[in-house]
Amino acid sequence: MDTKIFTEKFFEKYGNRSDKPVLFFSPGRVNLIGEHTDYNGGFVFPCALNYGTYLLIRNVKDNTLKFSTINFNDDSVTELKGLFLNTGKKWINYPLGVINEFIKKGIKLSGLELLYYGDVPNGAGLSSSASIEMVTAVALNEFFNAGFNTLDLVKMSQKAENEFVGMNCGIMDQFAVGFGKKDHAIFLNCDTLFYENVPLVLTDCSLIITNTNKRRGLTDSKYNERRSECDKAVELLKLFKPIRNLSELNNGEINILEKYIKDPVIRKRAKHVISENGRVIEAVNVLKDNNIIRFGELMNQSHDSLKDDYEVTGTELDTLVYEGRKLPGVIGTRMTGAGFGGCTISIVRKADSANFMTTLSSTYHKKTGLMPDFYQPEIGNGAGRIE
Ligand code: GLA
Repeated sequence: MDTKIFTEKFFEKYGNRSDKPVLFFSPGRVNLIGEHTDYNGGFVFPCALNYGTYLLIRNVKDNTLKFSTINFNDDSVTELKGLFLNTGKKWINYPLGVINEFIKKGIKLSGLELLYYGDVPNGAGLSSSASIEMVTAVALNEFFNAGFNTLDLVKMSQKAENEFVGMNCGIMDQFAVGFGKKDHAIFLNCDTLFYENVPLVLTDCSLIITNTNKRRGLTDSKYNERRSECDKAVELLKLFKPIRNLSELNNGEINILEKYIKDPVIRKRAKHVISENGRVIEAVNVLKDNNIIRFGELMNQSHDSLKDDYEVTGTELDTLVYEGRKLPGVIGTRMTGAGFGGCTISIVRKADSANFMTTLSSTYHKKTGLMPDFYQPEIGNGAGRIE
């Protein structure tokens, strides 16, 4: 991201070169393991990327909010006069939802000019939405001296997405994007919000993100369907013990599922969540012991469970994962994020990375007709002011 060019675009759009805007950045995230566990009070292990959303922002004297982005031709001007309603324009809903949370908390806002630029692919399971929300939240917090801490901003951003945008996500994405730490992954208990930054040392291996480039259609409705399936499982399992969420059961209790949950689909959903929590705990432990091989095996098991028990993968993700696993130097590979398309995350030996990308690209294209994109991310810090 060239700051000079970005700032120049800001002046072309809004004029008044004597008043310099302030630059903020919020990363996207990739989840290494622990999928569809966050809204079940479970464990996740994501990290913040060096890709994300940049925001240039400046105060103006009137009461207007002017939104623009380099990514699409879709500007918007709106007046500050109370709570906003969903505009139907997707990307502007993310900042507007966050702005509403500030208004609801009694923060007095005034006019702003905002220019966004994102280099994380949209809707690809790398939290482009949480990234726009959090960059807006940290900027407003500073501009209006609102005094919220990072956890407040994370919760406000999640609320914006749940209530304003209408996607009933858990807390993982906003948390990872807010609390990311360079070269560390975040081991988060989504029930207590207790977390630990774990150094991500991959020695002679690297992380490769592969985008299926499949358009995700029904993700939100399928996602909400999985959530209600988990709720059903919790209700049924209350006859076994008084639980609030599926993560209160452990691997040793998977064998009781058959007795309490007669519907095989609901049973499989519960099994995924419980087994995935076990995999996250083990994955964090083996990473601390530098056992990357076992970490990779757990990533593979996670994908298999998301495919067979949680049923959120699909042909494109499965093709990348199962073809990828046949290639030399692949330590582990799985889908990341909500699923149904989006991206995979793989750990691949550095010496084999180039071959992994060229071979997988051609196999994937032959089998699906689509071309994948590859990213070799660095692990970065959470959202904040850059300059
Ligand atoms: C999406 C949601 C997260 C989480 C993942 C699945 O990214 O936003 O809250 O549920 O899916 O792990």
